[in-house]
Amino acid sequence: MEGYKEPLVVRVEVASHCSLSEMDDFHLTRALEKPRQLKIERKRSFDERSMSELSNGYVRQDSFLEMAHSPGSRSMLDTPLSVRNSFEPHPIIAEAWEALRRSMVFFRGQPVGTIAAYDHASEEVLNYDQVFVRDFVPSALAFLMNGEPDIVKNFLLKTLQLQGWEKRVDRFKLGEGVMPASFKVLHDPVRKTDTIVADFGESAIGRVAPVDSGFWWIILLRAYTKSTGDLTLSESPECQKGMRLILSLCLSEGFDTFPTLLCADGCSMVDRRMGVYGYPIEIQALFFMSLRCALSMLKPDEEGREFIERIVKRLHALSFHMRNYFWLDFQQLNDIYRFKTEEYSHTAVNKFNVMPDSIPEWVFDFMPLRGGYFVGNVSPARMDFRWFSLGNCVSILSSLATPDQSMAIMDLLEHRWDELVGEMPLKICYPCIEGHEWRIVTGCDPKNTRWSYHNGGSWPVLLWTLTAACIKTGRPQIARRAIDLIESRLHRDCWPEYYDGKKGSYVGKQARKYQTWSIAGYLVAKMMLEDPSHIGMISLEEDKQMQPVIKRSASWTC
Ligand code: GLC
Repeated sequence: MEGYKEPLVVRVEVASHCSLSEMDDFHLTRALEKPRQLKIERKRSFDERSMSELSNGYVRQDSFLEMAHSPGSRSMLDTPLSVRNSFEPHPIIAEAWEALRRSMVFFRGQPVGTIAAYDHASEEVLNYDQVFVRDFVPSALAFLMNGEPDIVKNFLLKTLQLQGWEKRVDRFKLGEGVMPASFKVLHDPVRKTDTIVADFGESAIGRVAPVDSGFWWIILLRAYTKSTGDLTLSESPECQKGMRLILSLCLSEGFDTFPTLLCADGCSMVDRRMGVYGYPIEIQALFFMSLRCALSMLKPDEEGREFIERIVKRLHALSFHMRNYFWLDFQQLNDIYRFKTEEYSHTAVNKFNVMPDSIPEWVFDFMPLRGGYFVGNVSPARMDFRWFSLGNCVSILSSLATPDQSMAIMDLLEHRWDELVGEMPLKICYPCIEGHEWRIVTGCDPKNTRWSYHNGGSWPVLLWTLTAACIKTGRPQIARRAIDLIESRLHRDCWPEYYDGKKGSYVGKQARKYQTWSIAGYLVAKMMLEDPSHIGMISLEEDKQMQPVIKRSASWTC
């Protein structure tokens, strides 16, 4: 690419140790302002390519969070564990690692992933004995943070191979770039052969499409590259092609009037009918994050250049749309409440013709004066006001949320701790749906009854995204509170998949035990708190070129 220069990598090494109280107030941006000892090193590195850099040929300096995890520098806080006694290894850590290792899946002797759950007591295995792409992400991060990248590399290559398969549901051929939801290794002990079967939605309950898999794959490729400094994988022709194929699926032009990605129900972690069809926040946040990750890894060669240009344009439109129309805070809620309807033309304020009567009662009580969040969905005459945790945390990590919005999301979480965290972090969404609405929205799904599973259930795996968001916003104490809750129960309850109830007090009705991502999510959260520089793997700093144009409200300054 013209004007693309080799970036300057700044390696930070903090000579002195952080005391406990310093850690409590640890704010990453502040740490950036006061580096105690900087070693600056020029070398070819894996780096963000910002939009400005792409358009102006300007290379910005690596941000603190990202440089803190530059390859070779294990940690910015290189303090021995014994010194930081708040991080005394909890007795369940060793057990968690053992359980995580037990879930490892091998293909021809090589580790290629972890199964979803290792629950021998469960009568129904269903597909929990498979390696799910989304479930493997926290496992992968745990291995990367522990300096064991091989399993992650093998997984990335194996799933890339599976992407190359011809995929069909009945007689219908799926897009070339589709990544599997899950795969399984079959061992033949007689012939001593290993074979793989993969599921792209053709076997999944409800035949749901794993839209999130490709996004997680790109995000993980960047995490691997960031963590190891090994550029050969992401720069290989196979990985470059894999990224382009995923991107072709979601950047194609069509009838859409919005830059967000239109999806059917069940396309992500919530893989059953739950009224998330349309433009679900989880997919939009992952879409945004993977676009930014791809931008940092795509080579500006003949084939890559066109994609880079398309990504840059889409990011501009997507961030504008999300920051303005998905954002809800006290002021914005009040504005919608007073919306006029049936407005025609460019001057319309109520662009999507949302009927104020469709605002559910609970939002008025739920919304604090200070705080806000990205709502579940926005489309013509429809706003899904539900709060979804993964989408909001990923919005913080990817910097889809502006710094003010990120702070507001954390403010809301603190204000609504009882509702959103309760006794077990973290609610998948809030609130649940019940009664007639549940019948209509879920199609009478007995697994998704009120405050259970995807319908307001509490999922321990979400702890890692929460912890990362807390660290990024400089509020590790919130994560610590959540981790304390997890440590008081998760291991005793045998690492369940999810909890039920308004406060998340009960082990989920059909929850698997020894659910791998519950185990890995806990380990990742612990390792990130112990060494905050780890979040550079899964965090992207704000791109200054994507500043919001409209600022609808400033509840956070109230
Ligand atoms: C359930 C979850 C899904 C997860 C899978 C395997 O179907 O809804 O998000 O990937 O189990 O754990």
